[in-house]
Amino acid sequence: MLDFDNSGTSSSDHFSSTYRRIDRRTASRRKPKKSTTKSIPVASSLDPISIGAKRPSADNIKIVGGKGYDLRQPIPIKYASVRERFLDARKNFWTPNDIPMGEDKLQWNTGKLTEAEQWLFKTNISYLTAGDNLVPDNLVNAIFPHITANEMRQYLRWQMAEEANHIESYLFILESFGLDEQGQGQIFNLYQDMPDLVDKVNWNLTVTSSVATLKAPIGSPESNRALLEDLISYYLFEYLFFPLGFVQIFALARKGKLRNTAQQYSYIWRDEQNHSNNALWLILQIIKENPGIWDASMKKRAQRMVDEAVQLETRHAHAVMPDGGIVGLPVKTYIKFAQFVGDNVCKNLGVPTLFHTRSHPMPWISEYELNHEVNFFEGRVREYQTGSQLNWD
Ligand SMILES: [Fe+2]
Ligand SMILES: [Fe+2]
Repeated sequence: MLDFDNSGTSSSDHFSSTYRRIDRRTASRRKPKKSTTKSIPVASSLDPISIGAKRPSADNIKIVGGKGYDLRQPIPIKYASVRERFLDARKNFWTPNDIPMGEDKLQWNTGKLTEAEQWLFKTNISYLTAGDNLVPDNLVNAIFPHITANEMRQYLRWQMAEEANHIESYLFILESFGLDEQGQGQIFNLYQDMPDLVDKVNWNLTVTSSVATLKAPIGSPESNRALLEDLISYYLFEYLFFPLGFVQIFALARKGKLRNTAQQYSYIWRDEQNHSNNALWLILQIIKENPGIWDASMKKRAQRMVDEAVQLETRHAHAVMPDGGIVGLPVKTYIKFAQFVGDNVCKNLGVPTLFHTRSHPMPWISEYELNHEVNFFEGRVREYQTGSQLNWD
């Protein structure tokens, strides 16, 4: 190894010792006076950053409410599966304008949809757009300040980008139909005029607010309970409300209508499946690390939330399908599907089921589920990767 200063130490040793000296000098120069020290709010429970702050050790890292370590460092990775989820999600990133929309535009503008189908579509895209705004807003305002594992913060950052991409998808769909801003606005605004949808949106917003305005210190049992309730309500959003919304459009696509929109929704659904998997993992991990909060009353609350979500979805169904459904999608079957998903949520959370459903009332929706390779409409879609066009055989 080359030795530049003839001092008998290797260049790398020399560099290290010089660097350490410079580092110490710079550090002492940079050390802020006590009165000017500011806390940078990474997670509200963290101490202000100071010179020589402790590197995290895996033993100290907690998924929520961790203290005494600098959260800005990506190592050590304590929860390897969370990083895997981030890498998988990144591999699956897609863009709405890769999906051709010509067939849907033609159908929309040549009266191929019945009045009931048009109403279903309009209310659908209106509610889903509001929902895809609610989820990242909840992440940033309620969830993020509690998360004290760097890899989970990374995953949630990526999730927020995906939610933004979903909103872009809804906008792109309406734009591609040729609707001007006024036409788009009338559709996007619909959920605000429908009491059943307003209540459904507010149901999630109320729990976001209760966490965001919480006075209890982060990491305390009271704070963790509020957080858990919020996470369960958004788990229900991504695992129940979203797929039920997608089914409305998949039912149209089965009849050969709005198939391009259904393709967009299949990609969104794949993302939502990953988001709900992550939400469930987070809920279970918080419980594992804070077993005291998962007591009888919290379990009862979780079960009640599932019931409330299914009731809200039932009211939603009647509001958007006032004639008892459309051909291929009877409201009765739709509600059974909501109950089936609700029971799955109960099972996943380890609480007794509410509706005692046995079999999937709409098994056909798996045709619209994207895996790496899946039968889809009359063709097959190959694995989609960033930078390539969607490839349909
Ligand atoms: Fe989304
Ligand atoms: Fe999502």
